[in-house]
Amino acid sequence: MKNLLIATGLLTCLALPFTAFAQTSTPQFDKEARDIAKQFLEQLKPELQKSMKSDGPAKTVAFCHTKAPEIAKQLAQKTGWDINRVSLKPRGENATPDQWESTVLKRFNTQLANGASPKTLEFSAIVEVNNQTEYRYMKAIPTGNVCLTCHGSKIATPIQETLQQLYPNDTATGYSKGELRGAFSFSKTL
Ligand code: HEC
Repeated sequence: MKNLLIATGLLTCLALPFTAFAQTSTPQFDKEARDIAKQFLEQLKPELQKSMKSDGPAKTVAFCHTKAPEIAKQLAQKTGWDINRVSLKPRGENATPDQWESTVLKRFNTQLANGASPKTLEFSAIVEVNNQTEYRYMKAIPTGNVCLTCHGSKIATPIQETLQQLYPNDTATGYSKGELRGAFSFSKTL
């Protein structure tokens, strides 16, 4: 179990149920983390859209299957950060959130329900994990129209079949536009 030592200035209005809650600011790490999220999106989104157009959604599932983890790995190698995407209804192999991530995802959901813009939802903290101090950062990923093809309620049969093959335990469907699909989750050992 991870104990929160220090929460940063981001979203400090959230009283997260962890011990020793205190406020400090880690603007440099926040900036780096935001930049990594931007790079991740810039690498994935245009290629996803291109593949959807040229190869169709069923083949794009296979594209996401290899490309998304590849981008995460490359960015991790480049930056030295641990890089992941998580969801309360995960699809990918590493997308199951740990306790800290679940708590933050639930808070994002509450904030969205209270009218917050998904673009502003992020949270960062310094936590102690197994005697190591880590900076952790999460940023909300909202569900857009294009996402519903593979994460919505009515998924075309060929896409469903590919999803079933690649992700027999898939839970990442049934979403509507505007809902929280998941979040980026990055960490760095200090
Ligand atoms: C062509 C189908 C397809 C479309 C369209 C699509 N996704 Fe996904 N999504 C996937 C697949 C496949 C994975 C699993 C990737 C992996 O294995 O890491 C995934 C995983 C994710 C994850 C990681 C968490 C998890 O549950 O694995 C997030 C977050 C995500 N998608 C968000 C989105 C968003 C936001 C959009 C729209 C902008 C979108 N997706 C559009 C197929 C799709």
